[in-house]
Amino acid sequence: MSETEKQPEIYKGLVGVYADVSTISKVMPETNSLTYRGYAVQDLAENCSFEEVAYLLWEGELPNAQQLADFKAETAAEREISPALHAVIRHFPKDGHPMDAIRTAVSFMGLEDPETADVSQAAQYRKAKRLFAKIPTAIGAAYRASKGLPPVVPNPKHSFAENVFNLIQDRVPEPEVLKSFDVSMILYAEHTFNASTYTARLITSSVADMHAAVTGAIGSLKGPLHGGANEAVMHMLKEIGDPKIAREWLQTRFDHKALVMGFGHRVYKSGDSRVPTMKKYAEIMAEVVQDRTWMAISRELADEMLTKKNIHPNLDFPAGPAYYLMGFEIPLFTPIFVASRITGWSAHILEQAADNRLIRPLSWYTGLEQRPVPPMSARG
Ligand code: COA
Repeated sequence: MSETEKQPEIYKGLVGVYADVSTISKVMPETNSLTYRGYAVQDLAENCSFEEVAYLLWEGELPNAQQLADFKAETAAEREISPALHAVIRHFPKDGHPMDAIRTAVSFMGLEDPETADVSQAAQYRKAKRLFAKIPTAIGAAYRASKGLPPVVPNPKHSFAENVFNLIQDRVPEPEVLKSFDVSMILYAEHTFNASTYTARLITSSVADMHAAVTGAIGSLKGPLHGGANEAVMHMLKEIGDPKIAREWLQTRFDHKALVMGFGHRVYKSGDSRVPTMKKYAEIMAEVVQDRTWMAISRELADEMLTKKNIHPNLDFPAGPAYYLMGFEIPLFTPIFVASRITGWSAHILEQAADNRLIRPLSWYTGLEQRPVPPMSARG
């Protein structure tokens, strides 16, 4: 750097940077609230199905009865994945992580989709609906193949929630469980410019296609600071194992200055708008299954984190135990998040493409000054 050059302000992690406008959702950290297309997320969670919210995110308005019936019929008819993808899935390593499996499956769907190269709004939207329909099938097939089990054939009569349980667990649970799951899908569907959504927008900005953007977004979501936190939360609760030692366990984390998974948020600093609703349904799940340990440990941790660190839980904190109580194995938690967030990602992909400018920030160089390439004999 020459002495005359002054380093500009660097927004590491893009903290506080408004990178674009959006009409899809709004986070209001000052009131701990979140709206999708103007509707409060807790209102949607209590009063709508996940299919209605998917339609809302894409179309901008809630569907009427006919629109919803058409949307459900259209997407349910697209659920099956190709024999070629089933064959590839059967060859996936049995001990691979299900997030890597779904990332690979979505990439493969991009190889086969007849409209992959068509990035018109209409084709991109059709591909988004196909991904919404097929992702649970691929998650279920990969999970079951890893256990040596055959895939379950999707039933077009099933709701989105019924379908996910059927494809993974080969059962349709009771209505309270389905409602809790649907609520989690609604709460996970969209959240402004988070890391994976911004990844999807960034990929889209080069005029790459839907499958490319979603494959990249899945890679981003896997990280434990983002979607991977819901799995990490459950591993943590199982490691603690007993509410009586939760506070002591937390103290050892504080002593080591270690992160406590499921707490903190880049935007919310005084509470995540989605947590009260998800917590309510995780508590319902604890009663349905009659297994109160995990929520009891959660309450101890949340209380102590607030008292000692003034840090609130994020959505992954109640979602982790909720999925566990619904009977899902821990490595499936983040893939389930994918099955929901495909709606928000694709809404953003469509929005980015509709008013695109290549995303290309600058970096401030702090490396060595320019120098000549030395001959081989002079290198140390
Ligand atoms: N456990 C312990 N300390 C935490 C914490 C956590 N989960 N989250 C934040 N903090 C601490 C930070 O270490 C920092 O302390 P310091 O000021 O002494 O350095 C302080 O709180 C402020 O946090 P900050 O680093 O500004 O937050 P961020 O915006 O960079 O990070 C997350 C946000 C989500 C990455 C971070 O909270 C985190 O890693 N959480 C755990 C993973 C998780 O649950 N992710 C899902 C997010 S929805």
